[in-house]
Amino acid sequence: MNGKVPHIVQYQGSKRILAPQILQYMPQKFNRLIEPFSGMAAISIATAYEKRTDSFLINDINKPLVNLLEEAIENPKRLVEDYATVWNEQFSYGENHVQHFYDVRERFNDGDERPANMLYLLARCVKGAVRYGKTGNFNQSPDKRRHGTNPKTLEQNVHAIAYLLKGKTRFSALDYHEVLDMASPGDLVYMDPPYQGVTNVRDNRYFAGVPFEEFSQAIETLNRKGVDYLISYDGTCGGKEYGEELPESLHCKKVMLNAGVSSQSLLLGKKSITFEALYVSEALIPVYNMLPQQLSFLEAMA
Ligand SMILES: C[S@@+](CC[C@H](N)C(=O)[O-])C[C@H]1O[C@@H](n2cnc3c(N)ncnc32)[C@H](O)[C@@H]1O
Repeated sequence: MNGKVPHIVQYQGSKRILAPQILQYMPQKFNRLIEPFSGMAAISIATAYEKRTDSFLINDINKPLVNLLEEAIENPKRLVEDYATVWNEQFSYGENHVQHFYDVRERFNDGDERPANMLYLLARCVKGAVRYGKTGNFNQSPDKRRHGTNPKTLEQNVHAIAYLLKGKTRFSALDYHEVLDMASPGDLVYMDPPYQGVTNVRDNRYFAGVPFEEFSQAIETLNRKGVDYLISYDGTCGGKEYGEELPESLHCKKVMLNAGVSSQSLLLGKKSITFEALYVSEALIPVYNMLPQQLSFLEAMA
């Protein structure tokens, strides 16, 4: 599926490559997909591509990011034209095209958060990693070797995504708790919170660390409501574990997905495979896959 599924732009932590593995744990059909930590919405896009549902709720606390997704899906032509205008400006800077990134970044930080500016910053910044300083300003540096996604490549991808999601998607930029409150049985919630090690705080609006206890309680509430979910939650690389395990009392199953060779380890001259954890809510676990303690829990509940 990977080769054909469209994507808009690089985004650190994107689940695009892992999407085929993650979708294996989804039901074939369900009412609505809710992504409270959507990022660039790789899982919504892959789910729409596989026609598992016709209804999507895309949410991320980063408002300019959600505005970018909404523009791509609702107004693909306008986004591509605006992006081409911003992207082409860099060539009038000649050799000094890196300065153009700094200029766009400055106008973005001065309040011009138009989707085309956000898109250009993502397309040109180092590793597609959104970084904010203490005062809430976007402070990631440009990748000096690249010019950012060519508008022609972008055009095909953006129109393909609009085709998949237009008229089927609601957008919001809320804290994930508010989005989980909207979930009801029949929905599937896919959650990909920031890595536990990441404390990339912008300001109150762009709070990006999700405290572990609070997150576990939110899952407990989903269990009580009978809502199915999948959670990507940290993992292991080179035998080193990242992040705390979700509590057993949540009764979900943890599976490890192979995320390939880590680029960090390659830089250090090693070749460590990264594994990412996926927690699968109990009702989605095929019975033959259950651990003995999970089966006895079900028997006790019967
Ligand atoms: C690991 S990224 C998600 C990547 C996504 N799965 C993709 O494929 O692009 C985590 C996202 O959570 C968002 N986020 C952080 N704290 C949040 C919160 N409290 N509520 C909602 N979203 C939050 C961040 O802005 C970030 O985009």
